[in-house]
Amino acid sequence: MPNPIGPALFLSFAAVVLFVFVSVSPPVWDKISFLNIYTPEGDTAFGVFGACIKGGVCSRRSVGYTLAAPGTGNVNLNQTVLHKLTYTLILHPIAGALALLALLFGFLGLALASRILTILMSVFAFLGAIVGLVVFVIDMVIWNVLKNRLHDNDISASLGNANWLTVAAVFSLFVATCTAMLGAFGRFATGRAAGEKVGCDLEMPR
Ligand SMILES: *[C@@H]1O[C@H](CO)[C@@H](O)[C@H](O)[C@H]1NC(C)=O
Repeated sequence: MPNPIGPALFLSFAAVVLFVFVSVSPPVWDKISFLNIYTPEGDTAFGVFGACIKGGVCSRRSVGYTLAAPGTGNVNLNQTVLHKLTYTLILHPIAGALALLALLFGFLGLALASRILTILMSVFAFLGAIVGLVVFVIDMVIWNVLKNRLHDNDISASLGNANWLTVAAVFSLFVATCTAMLGAFGRFATGRAAGEKVGCDLEMPR
C-alpha cells in the first residue's frame, strides 16, 4: 500500500485553498458568494465579511454585518437572529487556519518521520472538518431562510458557490483525517527510521 500521507497532504492543501477562496468572498471579490439576490435595482452578493452590489459598491469589511440589498424594500433581511448569525461566518477562515495547521504538521511529520506529528495532522484536520461542518449548517440556515423569504416576495435569489466550496473543503478534511490516521498507524512502524533498522536486521542475521 502506498504511504497515505501523500493524499492526506494533498487533501489538506486543497481544503486550505478552498477556504481561502470562500474567505475572499464579498466584500473582497463578488465572484464568490453564499447568496445572490437579483433585483432591477442591482444584484447583491453576500460573503463572509460583507456584501457587494455587482459592478458597484461593497460594504466595508467587518465580522458580522447588516443583511441588506437594494430593491428588497419591505422584506426583513436583517432580522436580529440572522444578523447575529453573520458573526459566525468567521468560522470559515478559522476552519481554513486549522486546515493549514494540519498541512504544516503533515509536512513536518513526513520530513521527520514522526508518528506524533502525523497524529497531530489528523487531529487538526478533524477539528477543521468539525468547524467547517458547523459553519456549513449555519450557512444552510441563514442563506436558505433569506432565499425563501425573498422567493415568498417574488424576488429572485439563489445560493452561491461559496456553500459548495465549503462542502468540498469539509469533505477533503474528513478524508484527510482518516488517511493521516492510516499513515500514522499503518506505515511509520516500518517507516524511514524504523524501516532502516528492520532492513539491517534482516540483511545481516546473526
Ligand atoms: C441590523 O440588525 C442589527 C441587529 O438587530 C442592528 O443592530 C443593526 O442596526 C441593523 N442594521 C440596520 C442597517 O438596520
